[in-house]
Amino acid sequence: MEKAGQGVRSAFGRQQSGTDRTGARTARPLGLRSARRRRETCAVHRNNDILELDRISRSFGSVCVADQLSLNVRNGEALGIIGPNGAGKTSLFNMITGAIRVDGGAIRFDGVPITDLPPHRRCRIGIARSHQVPRPFADMTVFENVLVGATFGADPHSGAATVPALRALERTGLLAKANQRAGALPLLDRKRLELARALATGPSLLLLDEIAGGLTEHEVAELIQTIRALRAEGLTIVWIEHIVHALLAVVDRLVVLNLGKVLLDGDPHEVMASEQVREIYLGADA
Ligand SMILES: Nc1ncnc2c1ncn2[C@@H]1O[C@H](COP(=O)(O)OP(=O)(O)OP(=O)(O)O)[C@@H](O)[C@H]1O
Ligand SMILES: [Mg+2]
Repeated sequence: MEKAGQGVRSAFGRQQSGTDRTGARTARPLGLRSARRRRETCAVHRNNDILELDRISRSFGSVCVADQLSLNVRNGEALGIIGPNGAGKTSLFNMITGAIRVDGGAIRFDGVPITDLPPHRRCRIGIARSHQVPRPFADMTVFENVLVGATFGADPHSGAATVPALRALERTGLLAKANQRAGALPLLDRKRLELARALATGPSLLLLDEIAGGLTEHEVAELIQTIRALRAEGLTIVWIEHIVHALLAVVDRLVVLNLGKVLLDGDPHEVMASEQVREIYLGADA
């Protein structure tokens, strides 16, 4: 945990408070990536940063979702991302997972360039995400849905998807509902299923896109416990969320995205107290 004195790094180069973020980094969790996955990266790097976004750019016509954006995610940390609607948060996950290509810049995972890798290769080296809008295969059971994730993340020749699928159901509290039809699940369980499908791929980096959105306070509290437990197991987590108190209960560091740029990066409470956050959410006169 690196909360104390971490300070807030501003995109305008202004140190708002505290010290710059130079603290010691958490060691890479052991046993989360199999030897097979390591082989697929072609090289084993002892890297403090599990993910490096190096001046990535992407536009959709006149809409710029990443503007020479640089951001590193440290091994074992829980990083929160906030930003106004349309800031480019989901697009960032799409670029990390390979769902969309970058126009420029580089992405490295564990020190290995992945900028040109297709999504399934990125998944197999340990990157998984949940979607902002849950998209289960409605007519399949909960177990079958998670099995799809486990199969996607596994070596196609191994045939070993059942165990990770069951384990993912257990970790997300869905085991008792394994045989239910996914389309009949209430929202919290659909969110849990998103999480289970991602976990079944065997990630070391988990990207959560507004997984608490639309839930009641009680359900958010339950989800926080689940995500904390995953964190304690050693997963590196990047969590986009509008429900800020949920983020603050979990993350070590908070980034504010706006107009495809990192506006602020630092201690979550200091970031939330900053004038710039106030301005982009409430307007300059707030
Ligand atoms: N595939 C696409 N084609 C065209 N425009 C897109 C595409 N994906 C995203 N955009 C546009 O890029 C901008 C950023 O979208 P994005 O979904 O990344 O925002 P966001 O920060 O996740 O917002 P929200 O908080 O509402 O989820 C929006 O204006 C969106 O309409
Ligand atoms: Mg989004």
